[in-house]
Amino acid sequence: MSLFDMKGKVAVITGSTRGIGRAIAERMAEHGAKVVISSRKADVCEEVAKEINGKFGKGTAVAVAANISSKENLQNLVDESNRAFGKIDVLVCNAASNPYYGPLAGISDDQFRKILENNIVANNWLISMVVPQMIERKDGSIIIVSSIGGLKGSTILGAYAISKAADMQLARNLACEYGKHNIRVNCIAPGLIKTDFAKALWDNPENLKASTARSPLQRIGIPDEIAGCAVLMGSKAGDFMTGQTVVIDGGATIS
Ligand SMILES: NC(=O)c1ccc[n+]([C@@H]2O[C@H](COP(=O)([O-])OP(=O)(O)OC[C@H]3O[C@@H](n4cnc5c(N)ncnc54)[C@H](OP(=O)(O)O)[C@@H]3O)[C@@H](O)[C@H]2O)c1
Repeated sequence: MSLFDMKGKVAVITGSTRGIGRAIAERMAEHGAKVVISSRKADVCEEVAKEINGKFGKGTAVAVAANISSKENLQNLVDESNRAFGKIDVLVCNAASNPYYGPLAGISDDQFRKILENNIVANNWLISMVVPQMIERKDGSIIIVSSIGGLKGSTILGAYAISKAADMQLARNLACEYGKHNIRVNCIAPGLIKTDFAKALWDNPENLKASTARSPLQRIGIPDEIAGCAVLMGSKAGDFMTGQTVVIDGGATIS
């Protein structure tokens, strides 16, 4: 068996209709996992699940729409995933929100709360819903998609960066709480990746130049360059890894 084999595993990935989440879902499916495709839009989830089934075989993917800001939606995501595949072995908390760019003095309370609720509290909700079955089986891998924003100060992404730093601590806390049940909890911290979410940071040539000028690889990343680490964390290759944050940023944070 390959170290990275995910045959027999079921992975639920939030925000998996495009960008990083979709790349993770596709690569996990390619490595043999059953995957649950989720975002706010049911029709898009169905389309993506259909495409993955077309590529990797019927029954590989199912679609369950869920807005991460709704506890009911997340419970339904867990229930429907269990109904479709019988269990959840790997949970990827990938979807996040950032409704505000600018100095912290200008952020509204509602915007600040939304960022903290969707990017931290909702992750804890979803993880708490999935963990009991992982405890029963004494096996599970939880992956939170954080950001290098959580490792540095920022003049425009303050609240978002706070939420992403908190995700790293959430992973450390939960790794300590659940380690005795053989549940691993890790973060991936991507640098700038070419997705809709980060468009404002790469669409404009000046911003792009500023983001990549001091980066060793001198470019931004693509979603697929994040997926391999998620496969590692979700497969046997990651069995002894927990509480960690793996930075994937072309070297941006070390230069
Ligand atoms: N791109 C980057 O440069 C970068 C860097 C560091 C970290 N990240 C992190 O990577 C993760 C994924 O971002 P991405 O860049 O891949 O974004 P993306 O390409 O815009 O994809 C976001 C996905 O999440 C879904 N989504 C958005 N809001 C949601 C909500 N409230 N509930 C459920 N699903 C929701 C979207 O579908 P719908 O809109 O249809 O719901 C879509 O499937 C985020 O946690 C982000 O913070 C990104």
